[in-house]
This record gives sequence, C-alpha cells and structure tokens, in this order.
Amino acid sequence: MTLVDLPAPSLPAPADVAAFAGPGAAPGWQDEVRALAQQRNAIVLAHNYVLPEIQDVADHVGDSLALSRLAASTEASTIVFCGVHFMAETAKLLSPGRTVLVPTAAAGCSLADTIDAPALRGWKAEHPDAYVVAYVNTSAAVKAEADICCTSSNAVDIVAVAPRDRPLLFLPDAFLGAHVKRLTGREDMHIWLGECHVHAGISPTDVRKQVAAYPDAELLIHPECGCATSALWLTGTGDLPAERTHILSTGGMAALAPRLTGATALVATEVGMLHQLARANSRTTFLPMNPKASCRYMKMSTPQLLLRCLREGRDEVTVPDDVAVPARRAVQKMIAVGAPGGGE
Ligand code: 13P
Ligand code: SF4
Repeated sequence: MTLVDLPAPSLPAPADVAAFAGPGAAPGWQDEVRALAQQRNAIVLAHNYVLPEIQDVADHVGDSLALSRLAASTEASTIVFCGVHFMAETAKLLSPGRTVLVPTAAAGCSLADTIDAPALRGWKAEHPDAYVVAYVNTSAAVKAEADICCTSSNAVDIVAVAPRDRPLLFLPDAFLGAHVKRLTGREDMHIWLGECHVHAGISPTDVRKQVAAYPDAELLIHPECGCATSALWLTGTGDLPAERTHILSTGGMAALAPRLTGATALVATEVGMLHQLARANSRTTFLPMNPKASCRYMKMSTPQLLLRCLREGRDEVTVPDDVAVPARRAVQKMIAVGAPGGGE
C-alpha cells in the first residue's frame, strides 16, 4: 500500500483573495453576466457546489460528468467554468478549439493535490502491468498517466469494464475507491490514500447525530464522504434504513430529489448541493449532514470574479499538447463508456 503525504491545500493568490473578499457585485450583475456571455458567445457552466447565485445565473448546473459532456458538445466559442481548476482543464481537453475561462485559476482541489504525475509514475513502477483509473479530480498531468478517467457517477461502470487480467490502480480518493471495490468485488484493486478535506470531514458521528434527530429522513451520501463506508455497514446491521440510504454522485442526488416524498432528507456532501435539491423538490426539507462541509475553492467563483472573467477574458485555462494528447485519450475513453457503442 502506498502512503502519501497530504500537502496543504493550495491557497488562492493574494490578488484573488482581495477580489473574493471585496464588496458585493452591483444590483443587476446577473444581467451584465448574461449580456457579456452573449457578446463573447460563451456558455456558463456551474458545478452543483458553487454559490447559489452563480448556479442561478449559469446556463447549466451539474455534476462533473454532465458538465464534461456539455463541454464536449457545446457550440459556443468560449466555455466559462464556474467550479474548480481540474474541471476547467477537463473541459479544455474535450474542447481544445474553444477558449476555456475560469473566474479564478486559484480555485484548486485538496483531493487533486494528493497526487502528482511523478508520484503516479512511481506507483505505476511498483505495479508495472496495472490498469490505471484516475478520478477526474486530478490534474491533466496525472490524467495523462492514466488509462481511463472516471467521475463519482460512473466509477463503478468504468471499473466494471476494466480489463480483468491486469491489476487495477484507482486514484486518488480512498473513500470512493473503497465504495467501488465493494460494489465491483475487484479484490486486485489498489487504492491511493487520498481524500477531499470537505468530504472526509463528514464523519460517522455526524451521521449518527443527525439520524437520531431525524429518524425518518432519507439519507443522500456522496461516495467521497468519510461516513460512506460506515453508513453502508450500519445499513447491514439494521442501524440505518437500507431502503432510505442512497450513495450517489451530486448528479445522482439531483436526479433522485424530485422523487422523494418524505418530509426530510439528510445530505452528506458539500453544502452548495442543497440549493439544487431544494429547487428540485419543495415538499422535502434538505438538511446538511454537516453544515460546515463547505469547499472554499468552489466558493471562489463569486459574482465579482465571474464579471471580471467575462469582461477581461481571464483566467484562461490551457493544457500543453504533450500532456493534452494522452490526458484527452483517458477522458474520452471515459465519456465513451455508457454512450451508445461505448466501452472498452
Ligand atoms: P461530482 O462528480 O459528484 O459532481 O463530484 C465532484 C466533486 O468535486 C466532489 O467533491
Ligand atoms: Fe475538491 Fe473536495 Fe472541493 Fe470537490 S469538494 S472540489 S473534491 S476540495
């Protein structure tokens, strides 16, 4: 097993911190965003975790996989990605001819920071014949070293179609990896010990406390969460309701929300998700499993920085060709799984 030293999450550059913390955008900023997007022939994509007001002004809101697919199929000449840097890089890989902009290039990801390309090359050297599955929460340089990518909504399908005659390296999220290993039964799957500081912070204690307070609630749990494994174990012992416990990507949560009929649902993921869930179903009250589960990188897409992005055409995301070619291959292979005629 490989242990990694978890680096401190990358922090925003001082200039961006100033803009991030600056005065609120003027009233009517949404109209300016829409007008500037039209002038630039830009599509605005937003991840489910960004600020509610950014979700509301975007053309599309979704999970990593849905936004990747949109980036691959858009006819707009510019993609403005309100999310984190690796997501915008993925959009650039899939749409190399288009300009990809982010409100700030400082929006990193603590999970992606747990592995870099030299570390992955070292791990591959320990398992020379292994097939490498990289979660999209990785840099383009790491994707370039992988055979295929996955997101939380397709990780099980991707591992299910991976070659059976080679050992499998799964990176970088240990909790998602454990979930996929459990569902696919792949015993020869080696898992990188990375984690997202936000999801790892949602603990089994949070689940116990909230379930005691809301015993009839539905449970929506992202597989990156520190509580996912114990929640499933507790469904096995009867301590949690199996029929009301759902392990889902953010897109899976949004798809399930309109079908829920209970009064309350407890949501174990980044708190930005609650906005889309509340929009999808006003009968059910969606409550966070841990209200402190907020990703500071996702919250860097502020109205001010989105306006700056559209006015000044910055920050642009680029990927050098020697990295882009192999990284694109791994992302496109993922996109093909589940699409008509897709698979390995
Ligand atoms: P999804 O793929 O479920 O959107 O998750 C992305 C992410 O960053 C989880 O923290
Ligand atoms: Fe990365 Fe975690 Fe933020 Fe998702 S919530 S972008 S995995 S730091």
